[in-house]
Amino acid sequence: MKKQLISLIHQKLAPLMAGYGIQEFDFIDVQVPPDRSKGDFSMNAAMKLAKAAKCPPIKLAQEMLAILNEEKSWFSKVEIAGPGFINMYLHDDVISANFNQISALPDLGLKGGQQNETTVIDYSSVNIAKQMHVGHLRSTIIGDVLARVIEALGNRVIRQNHLGDWGLPMAMVLFKAVPILRKAERENVPAENLLPLSRLEELYKEATAECKNDEETAKQCHELLVRLQQGDPQLLSDWKKITRISMIEVYRIYRLLDVKLNEENECGESFYRDMLAETVKEIEKSGKLVESQGARCVFLDEFVSKEGNPLPVIVQKSDGAFNYGTFDLAALRYRTHRLKAHRIVYVTDARQVLHFKQVFATARICGILADETVALEHVPFGSILGEDNKPLKTRSGENVKLSELLDEAIDKAFQVVTEKNAGLTEEYRHEVAKMVGIGAVKYADLSQNRNNDYVFSFDRMLALNGNTAPYLQYAHARICSIFRKAGIDPGNFVEKARVSAAAERDLMVKILEFTQTVEQVAAELRPHILCNYLYELATAFSTFYDRCPVLAAESEELKTSRLALCNTTRKTLAKGLELLGITAPREM
Ligand code: ARG
Repeated sequence: MKKQLISLIHQKLAPLMAGYGIQEFDFIDVQVPPDRSKGDFSMNAAMKLAKAAKCPPIKLAQEMLAILNEEKSWFSKVEIAGPGFINMYLHDDVISANFNQISALPDLGLKGGQQNETTVIDYSSVNIAKQMHVGHLRSTIIGDVLARVIEALGNRVIRQNHLGDWGLPMAMVLFKAVPILRKAERENVPAENLLPLSRLEELYKEATAECKNDEETAKQCHELLVRLQQGDPQLLSDWKKITRISMIEVYRIYRLLDVKLNEENECGESFYRDMLAETVKEIEKSGKLVESQGARCVFLDEFVSKEGNPLPVIVQKSDGAFNYGTFDLAALRYRTHRLKAHRIVYVTDARQVLHFKQVFATARICGILADETVALEHVPFGSILGEDNKPLKTRSGENVKLSELLDEAIDKAFQVVTEKNAGLTEEYRHEVAKMVGIGAVKYADLSQNRNNDYVFSFDRMLALNGNTAPYLQYAHARICSIFRKAGIDPGNFVEKARVSAAAERDLMVKILEFTQTVEQVAAELRPHILCNYLYELATAFSTFYDRCPVLAAESEELKTSRLALCNTTRKTLAKGLELLGITAPREM
């Protein structure tokens, strides 16, 4: 609706502006005023264009007003406010016509924009031989939402799980695990029996400690890394086994979280192993490669330490090994040349801000990218804190294991669901507990501005009131129950709605903001914008439902209209939650 309005204003004001010698004024800034009593939309075009038109803003606003006042079919009222704002009030008929139109579209018209770009999203990107802990939760779920959102708007999305599988930590695990793999073969037992992921993680910790205390071990690990990277067949086959054992557990958690990552999205550091030398050559061609203390580096003026020393990007170490950054440069080459990405999005914690700045700048300056116009965006996020405001840890100071945390959330959700509606069968309550428990954990994370740290609290995230997943899920279930009572299948309900009360109009207006909200999430890469929207939508529904009887409406016609409004609210909530990777139960 906003888009149509903008194009109408543009078209109507064009002759006026041409008279002032202004042909281009695409930037008309039409906003929803924070105070809704100031109209449905407000614009500051007169103020913005006054200077170029050499005309006082208030005079320009008056001339615009006269033109817009002619559009009687759109506006019930247009007025000037302050130094030249124009507030626009739409007819109820315009609102309901637009509402009925999007209600009939698949996914409420999300794909209407047809953006048709290829976006690569690098997320989750776990490290092999380590259990996922809460730190991985954010990348996994934020990245998954961004992928769903950008895809829903009609783009091609390529999900990339950039596994940490080719660096020193991997060699250290192999150093300890190889003898155990041999033992498993001798005894003819499956490797994962002797080396479950928890054991691999212990081995990594043991190796770290040993390397610290013993130079000989450290040297052996380094040699092992070089042999692996050179493609020693036995080591490669051991490496593969360990990778698979690790990923079994990771996939179990992805499935539990309902995250859309599969084996086909695995594109770890190792994937780029044969492209590294070439990438360094490419950088060399740009003339930016410098030898420094035996290592090959790129120095860029903008990167200096606090003390003013240059901070190089090391692309190849003195022993010939490649770095974390080299993998990323090779990946950028691949993603722009082969995957033909228009936009590449990286989701990691905020500690990697500098790393990505350096990688992006190096890639641009050294001619790594297929196309200069590609957008490279790092999406950093803060930490998850415990109730003590320190990074979340177990009592004994260990990292909290993600799978234990999720199990606890499901258990607690089962209690909440049982308290709310003990009449449901136990089996169904378990099913709903999973949706609510996982939904609550995800939503608590997604609803925060991602740049901030947040405190993890089961009580708060599972509350049935407030900006939580259970509140939204409950609003959805409540609408489903209205349809059950009416004996109508909402999936086949295609009636139209019209405005007869302010609460209905407010709810329609909110629903009409859905697409632009999703577009904003895709542009700014901030899921909390969608969370806030859904919360406002659920609240608007609640007000409507308090004030406007649906099944007991005064007339059959009004009942049908309100049911139509309920149904589109239901679809919007369900679609919004789906984009957040959260399932909405029909009953709870
Ligand atoms: N595996 C890395 C880590 O756990 C994250 C990788 C992020 N992606 C990338 N292309 N560097 O820190």
